Amino acid sequence: MGRRILPKMDRSVDFSGHYRELADVAPDFELPNWFPMPGPLEIEVGSGKGLFLLTQSGLFPERNFLGIEIAKKYARFSAYRLAKFERTNAKMIRGDAIKFIQENVADNSLAAMHVYFPDPWWKAKHRKRRVVSEELARLAETKLFVNGELHFWTDVHEYFETGCESILAATQFLHGPIGEEPLLENGDLPYRTHFERRMLNNSHDVFRCKFIRRLDARVADSSVQTQS
Ligand SMILES: C[S@@+](CC[C@H](N)C(=O)[O-])C[C@H]1O[C@@H](n2cnc3c(N)ncnc32)[C@H](O)[C@@H]1O
Repeated sequence: MGRRILPKMDRSVDFSGHYRELADVAPDFELPNWFPMPGPLEIEVGSGKGLFLLTQSGLFPERNFLGIEIAKKYARFSAYRLAKFERTNAKMIRGDAIKFIQENVADNSLAAMHVYFPDPWWKAKHRKRRVVSEELARLAETKLFVNGELHFWTDVHEYFETGCESILAATQFLHGPIGEEPLLENGDLPYRTHFERRMLNNSHDVFRCKFIRRLDARVADSSVQTQS
């Protein structure tokens, strides 16, 4: 993701309880049992430096959060910060999110799946590497419980349009744009992730959409909400 160097990690912080390599996940691994308290589970695909997980796990201690990040340095950094701030309800898996979800997440078990600013893979020959695809949509529909939510935000309009089309083509999700978020009380721009903060600070548009799992309904609402 970003080009910036990560802050130094304090070696005295033990984050082993917050971090696992996908390759080390045992066949009998029970994801809900990894968390000390039961609660609705939300997954972030490609969590980068982990700002969303850190913020949301503090705001919603009754929910559990799992970040899945393929880049080792970001996955370790996110786990380190979750441990440093004593978040017992948020953990990191290092590996491919699609593979982990396919193999380790029970059907009808997720409250939400979050995909924020996935890599756009600009070159046409690389587009097939995009995370937001019909495959991800079908996976989300299988793993979310009824009324569970899939959030997809990006600054790339073309990815937003084709991503939303893929999701609607592959699923029966309800679809709706998310409205503008108000400024925070201290006047800061609202943001959920590092990438979003960077986009808003540079006055870039952000395209946000939320899909809700239904059993049998689809609403053809393709309106687009932007915020600059
Ligand atoms: C552009 S960054 C955005 C990070 C964060 N969501 C944000 O908004 O700040 C995309 C992240 O997705 C990760 N990623 C890409 N493909 C992935 C995959 N298949 N599984 C897990 N993480 C992935 C990348 O390593 C990168 O950290």
